[in-house]
Amino acid sequence: MKAIDYSLLETVSAIPEASSMIETLRAIGYNIETAVADIIDNSVSANAKHIWINFEWLGSATWLSVKDDGSGMNGTELIQAMKPGSKNPLHDRDDKDLGRFGLGLKTASFSQARKLTVISKKANYNSVYWTWDLDFVNSTGKWNLIKYLPDERFEKELSDLHSGTIVIWNDIDRLVKNFRQDDQKALDKFLLIMEQVKRHLCMVFHKFIEQGKIKIYFQNEEITPWNPFLLDEPSTQIFPEEKVQQGIVKIEGYVLPHKSKISEEKYKTAEGLKGWNEQQGFYIYRNDRLLLAGDWLGLFRKEEHYKLTRIQIELPNTLDTEWQIDIKKSVARPPLAFREQIKAYAMKVRAQAVEVYRHKGKSVKPIIGQKFIPLWIDHKRGDKWFYKINREHPILEKIKGQAKNEPEKAIEVLIRFIEETIPTKSIFIKESEVPELQGKPFEGIDHEIIKNTMQSMYTNLTDQGKSSEQAKAIIINIEPFNNFAHFLEFLN
Ligand SMILES: Nc1ncnc2c1ncn2[C@@H]1O[C@H](COP(=O)(O)OP(=O)(O)O)[C@@H](O)[C@H]1O
Ligand SMILES: [Mg+2]
Repeated sequence: MKAIDYSLLETVSAIPEASSMIETLRAIGYNIETAVADIIDNSVSANAKHIWINFEWLGSATWLSVKDDGSGMNGTELIQAMKPGSKNPLHDRDDKDLGRFGLGLKTASFSQARKLTVISKKANYNSVYWTWDLDFVNSTGKWNLIKYLPDERFEKELSDLHSGTIVIWNDIDRLVKNFRQDDQKALDKFLLIMEQVKRHLCMVFHKFIEQGKIKIYFQNEEITPWNPFLLDEPSTQIFPEEKVQQGIVKIEGYVLPHKSKISEEKYKTAEGLKGWNEQQGFYIYRNDRLLLAGDWLGLFRKEEHYKLTRIQIELPNTLDTEWQIDIKKSVARPPLAFREQIKAYAMKVRAQAVEVYRHKGKSVKPIIGQKFIPLWIDHKRGDKWFYKINREHPILEKIKGQAKNEPEKAIEVLIRFIEETIPTKSIFIKESEVPELQGKPFEGIDHEIIKNTMQSMYTNLTDQGKSSEQAKAIIINIEPFNNFAHFLEFLN
């Protein structure tokens, strides 16, 4: 293609329409948890040591603020920071920087609130503030900031710090639109959501908190880190670290302890925000900041028996493009070239996790020379799985003995044993591994037993005065004979 000579061409201004642009910015798909976390990312990048999240329930006038004692901004820097797209995503970032697109402050805030005020103070500067008011932008059609501070108090708070920034959300319509302050139900729901936000932060920033780099206060209460890998539990199994992508991506697998090996309280805490099953998978960190918590990246499905698997992947911020890190920092995709290696590693960890999951009873020490006697035996017929009662089991000897004198009682005892011991777990595991491999009743064997049983039932029924048609109708409605309708014509 030939280079375009722009000087020869007619041009026309096509500035984005404010109202539709606002809605686009609002619709990126944050939720309140990810939005608050993105604001805190900026505090961390600005080298804050302390971060305070505060809010006050006032119905639809509820506000939320994130304050930090980071480096702060002067007037020019603040205006630059308030611009959507304030930094070029293609530029190299400081290797500790958690930002990327120059959008987070704005998109995260607008996703929840219609008013975003930032007040900031750089060391040796006076504090400065500016507000984005989406209603104002909408009504004027102009992308102009307003010099508005919702409460003088924030200025006072900042003056107590050497430097720092407060981000304030007002008109949080995604959360508290039209709620009255005295609406108790709405308040309860709001507090529940805030609790979720808190737990999300305990998880996302756990490494920073653990390393003593930051302290986060939620309504003035310091939060404690939530570590997904139960490192302080002796039964946690750690896999050797493997390096991927020229050694800059580190991957490390963990098999968490079986439920019986840890305290109930620990088990409950470890289940995290979404529960044990949902929290299995990869945990992707970018510069120690958790992006994804429990995701198999499309490589596997989440399944009950793999729930003890959690695998850490650590990325630097130089791989954002290759790993397709999105604006919300909640999506990541491994580059095609490394998927197989990551998958192979994960398969080893998962295999071990199933072992731990299945053999919860392993802790009972076997007596030497004493063999374990199962009641159920899973075995393969052709390529399908079946479950068989162990004919050698001592209970069967006893029941056979009892059957001589009390046949009805003996059968009842036998049925009870079968009912109570059906190997549901084993069936469940096999079913979710390869669903089509569970055998159907009497599949793949000689059907003489079935045929004979059907015949003797038929004889009994006709002897009792049922017509041939009636007898067949009764039999075909009994499991497992319903699978053998083709035998009906042989009955006589
Ligand atoms: N709490 C803060 N302290 C200091 N500077 C900040 C703070 N929040 C935002 N900034 C400045 O605003 C810029 C834009 O932030 P943001 O929109 O989140 O994009 P990004 O984080 O991708 O750079 C940041 O790069 C930073 O320079
Ligand atoms: Mg940011």
